[in-house]
Amino acid sequence: GAVALCLSKWGRLAPKRVTLSYESTSTSPVLQQRRQVHYSLIPHGRSGRSSVSGIVATVFGATGFLGRYVVNRLARIGSQVIIPYRCDPYDLMYLRPMGDLGQLLFMEWDSRDKESTRRAVEHSNVVINLVGREWETKNCQFEDVFVNIPKRIAQVSREAGVEKFIQVSHLNADMKSRSRYLRNKAVGEKIVREEFPGAIILKPSEMFGREDRYLNHYANMRWFGGVPLISLGKKTVKQPVHVVDVAKAILSAIKESESKGKTYALTGPHRYLLYDLVEYIYAVLHRIYLPYFLPRPLYHLVARFFELNPFDPWITRDKVDRFHLTDMKFPELPGLEDLGIVPTPLEQKAIQVLRLHRKYRWIDTEMEESKPATPVS
Ligand SMILES: NC(=O)c1ccc[n+]([C@@H]2O[C@H](COP(=O)([O-])OP(=O)(O)OC[C@H]3O[C@@H](n4cnc5c(N)ncnc54)[C@H](OP(=O)(O)O)[C@@H]3O)[C@@H](O)[C@H]2O)c1
Repeated sequence: GAVALCLSKWGRLAPKRVTLSYESTSTSPVLQQRRQVHYSLIPHGRSGRSSVSGIVATVFGATGFLGRYVVNRLARIGSQVIIPYRCDPYDLMYLRPMGDLGQLLFMEWDSRDKESTRRAVEHSNVVINLVGREWETKNCQFEDVFVNIPKRIAQVSREAGVEKFIQVSHLNADMKSRSRYLRNKAVGEKIVREEFPGAIILKPSEMFGREDRYLNHYANMRWFGGVPLISLGKKTVKQPVHVVDVAKAILSAIKESESKGKTYALTGPHRYLLYDLVEYIYAVLHRIYLPYFLPRPLYHLVARFFELNPFDPWITRDKVDRFHLTDMKFPELPGLEDLGIVPTPLEQKAIQVLRLHRKYRWIDTEMEESKPATPVS
């Protein structure tokens, strides 16, 4: 077929907006050519960084924790990735080597401006929304981040004829949750479904990985002389998931032809009592585990004090509530296995995160010496 050259601001590899469909094969999607299509959308090569996967994806929130894993996984199979950002360009430098020359396209983005969102998605066949925030400020509420921004992106993506829209929500998103974050996440899921009925919604539990705000958070609690836990963490059950598994799930959802309109619950393989989980973290750290009981109102008071921090507050009242919520179970929803991913046990990867919190004398000690946490059934 003839190749339509699109001389847009994206330059040589810019794809022309076309209607595409995927046919799933065992490993990679095959693009069917219905109309003229730019050659950057026709998969070719050996599926390495310099090949062409046929995926042109816009990743909103690429500068976050999950974003770097998603961008890397997309780029290393030869996808074009459009990265809308709001930070200083120097803060994006670590993303640049992830893709082949010219395959990562950065553009300034104003999340409140529909036109800027439109420009970011108009050349893509896949849009992934990873925008999130751990705490609220006067100018940026959870409602903006989890409802208004996803709504705008989903709306614009539908109008632009995007094939696949992936929204990352949270496992415990619930309209009745005591956490404002999770209530807004639940509203966001509903709004995205309304705006983009074929959207794929992924619901990961708390994610762990090198730059996480979960294992690192509990490890850093040692500076406070112990770990405060509501009900000593004996009434909370958690099922954390590895960040790489979530990134893999996003890639599989793009390739999988049956994934449109589905919601996936992404969790790790085991459920742990919060008390046992934190005990295990301290065992890996080779540090003394000093859990102490803190009633919720008192914990909120402490968190209120940290919320006065104009930069990243270490803990907030909402985070206290979220971290003490038992992870929901969704036996009816497909999960990681349905996307062909074997969930990674916490015990296998915790060392990568926790080694830097160890004292020098324990730095090289292997994991086998730490007794794993007992999973709850
Ligand atoms: N981390 C977890 O354990 C976890 C668990 C379950 C679900 N999730 C969800 O998964 C998604 C990704 O999580 P994450 O941990 O990677 O999030 P993250 O590290 O907090 O990154 C969030 C991203 O959103 C961007 N962002 C935030 N507010 C914005 C705004 N007002 N305008 C434009 N961009 C904005 C940030 O940009 P800047 O870099 O410029 O700030 C960053 O790129 C989020 O939706 C999160 O709620 C996370």
